[in-house]
Amino acid sequence: MRTAVCPGSFDPVTNGHLDVFARASEMADEVVVAVLINKTKSSLFTVEERIEMLEETVAPLGNVRIDAFHGLLVDYCRDHGIKAIVKGLRAVSDFDYELQMAQMNYRLAGVETLFISTNPLYSYISSSLIKEVATYGGDVSGLLPDPVLERLSAKISATLGK
Ligand code: PNS
Repeated sequence: MRTAVCPGSFDPVTNGHLDVFARASEMADEVVVAVLINKTKSSLFTVEERIEMLEETVAPLGNVRIDAFHGLLVDYCRDHGIKAIVKGLRAVSDFDYELQMAQMNYRLAGVETLFISTNPLYSYISSSLIKEVATYGGDVSGLLPDPVLERLSAKISATLGK
């Protein structure tokens, strides 16, 4: 596989995402982690902050780079000559929607989706759950890279302090 794209919101990136990037990077010559710019969805971190955190954390993976996109993922794939999307599947609950999107993306542009079964260590985590737990003071260390944890704690303090 030449280039694969791992798309998502990454608000913020978790160790589960990183596990998928690392495993995708073993299969593809190049992996592009593409951050969705979605002005209608509220996020804790700005797109720029999310990209910065991703860039910091994928640095040890030589063939992974970060980009951002808006609109349809298949249009991004078409514009960049990308034929494969790689996603992590955490549980059966992910499967229905992921299958729908995979089938739609194939119908729209013939782009294939490959699923990586998430490492069981991270199968219960999501960015949303981590943010919720951290907001109420729960310990989320070990679930996301340390520099991201620091930024999350600072962001939550700044947001709650407002
Ligand atoms: O991390 P997320 O928010 O669960 O990622 C979802 C994402 C970004 C992969 C998905 O919403 C997406 O591909 N959005 C781009 C718009 C699009 O192509 N929608 C049609 C999907 S079939």
